[in-house]
Amino acid sequence: MIGVAVGVALAGPADFAGWRSEARRLLAAGVPPEDVEWRLAGEVPGLFGGAPLPEGHAAASVPRGFLELAEVAIRHRDPERFALLYRLVWRLTHGEPGLLQVATDPEVIRAQAMAKSVRRDAHKLHAFLRFRLVETAAGPRYIAWFEPDHHILEAETGFFIRRFAGMHWSILTPEASAHWDGVAVRMAPGARRQDAPAEDAQEILWRAYYANIFNPARLKPAAMRAEMPKKYWKNLPEAQDIARLLAEAPGRVAAMVERGATPAAIRRQRAPVADVEAPMPDLFSQDPAAALAALKAEVLADRGPLAEHATQAVFGEGPLGAALLFVGEQPGDEEDIAGRPFVGPAGRMFNQALVEAAVPREKAYVTNAVKHFKFTPTGRRRLHQTPDAGDIAHYKPFLRREVEIIAPQLVVSLGATALRALTGKAMAISKVRGTMIRTEDGLPLFPTVHPSYLLRLPDAESRAREYDRFVGDLKAAWREVQ
Ligand code: URA
Repeated sequence: MIGVAVGVALAGPADFAGWRSEARRLLAAGVPPEDVEWRLAGEVPGLFGGAPLPEGHAAASVPRGFLELAEVAIRHRDPERFALLYRLVWRLTHGEPGLLQVATDPEVIRAQAMAKSVRRDAHKLHAFLRFRLVETAAGPRYIAWFEPDHHILEAETGFFIRRFAGMHWSILTPEASAHWDGVAVRMAPGARRQDAPAEDAQEILWRAYYANIFNPARLKPAAMRAEMPKKYWKNLPEAQDIARLLAEAPGRVAAMVERGATPAAIRRQRAPVADVEAPMPDLFSQDPAAALAALKAEVLADRGPLAEHATQAVFGEGPLGAALLFVGEQPGDEEDIAGRPFVGPAGRMFNQALVEAAVPREKAYVTNAVKHFKFTPTGRRRLHQTPDAGDIAHYKPFLRREVEIIAPQLVVSLGATALRALTGKAMAISKVRGTMIRTEDGLPLFPTVHPSYLLRLPDAESRAREYDRFVGDLKAAWREVQ
């Protein structure tokens, strides 16, 4: 046959099922790639469009790896994709069964590069999509706008259904839209940017969180641009802040150094800005890990009175479902810099006592009643200040949710502030130490002293005695949960 003999129309730009069944028919009929014109339904038909295929025999099977490659590569925007994939399948079934292993073959290279580009586009969709809440007559709906490079939307809806099954959402793109109502996904034509709403309260929260985790010392603008092309920045609420955060960066580093942090300590901080790939905390999920991430986002975004002077909020650490949950008072100077609980002098004392009591810290959850460092600046040092009733009340909703999500068997309060935050009452530790009482929410609570109490004791003898008692309390708490 000479020239284009067969025109094949596919239902959509990423219609893999259609391409596969047409390719099978063409192969069975022995139609070579140069005789096929691939197009989309609705496009102008070719000269020989719709010509019936000659009768043939069953198509030869193709390697599974090819189908996996083709299913992804077909979502590429390149108009040649259908023809390229048919040329590959033709060659695979006409004397080149090992073709995919020929790493230097230009057609194999091209198809693999297409699949890679599609996967990268899907990754960006997952990471950079931002839903905005809209109240509709049918209830709340979350709407997001995105401009993918390739035809990926339909294939990626499964990801969003799994993550946001419980909410109604729409993803709008210039080419297609996907609407989920909790039961089924409906694909619809493309939309315009202005069809998606502007910023909502949740985004404001996310921006505050982002500004909080922004680590100027680890900022790599070139890497950021490589990872997240400018094109996407306009969809990301936090990206609106990047220019300002960049401008403020040198001042923030200087302020951190002034607060006593070494440059190395600043760089070691978690959540560098290059973590823009981290997905948005899932504020809607019932899943404990997602609920904890969302709570952490809220705590890091907190702008209460103590947040103003602290370096950052310090959230709890440890596994979900930890049997023991320790509650301290508030982060100290070192915790404030590191962003982690109990890493300073009291933390080292606590760790030592845990080891002696044979309580594995990594199996426990450790947090604080108050999430920001409260201090008085005195010359070069920051002097710890005990949180007052107002401070405890401010952070109490966070602590209650944190305890509820971790769902420990036993809560251990370290010191008076934790005891007060957990029981809602100011009581003397000496009266309840080592006994089993309950938190305000009804969980078993085992009060003991704060490790910094041991550090403050004036003489070695009382320190040794009280340390042994503290280790005894930790052992008793651990026994309770065995
Ligand atoms: N003291 C606390 O109560 N918590 C810390 O994280 C550090 C010191």
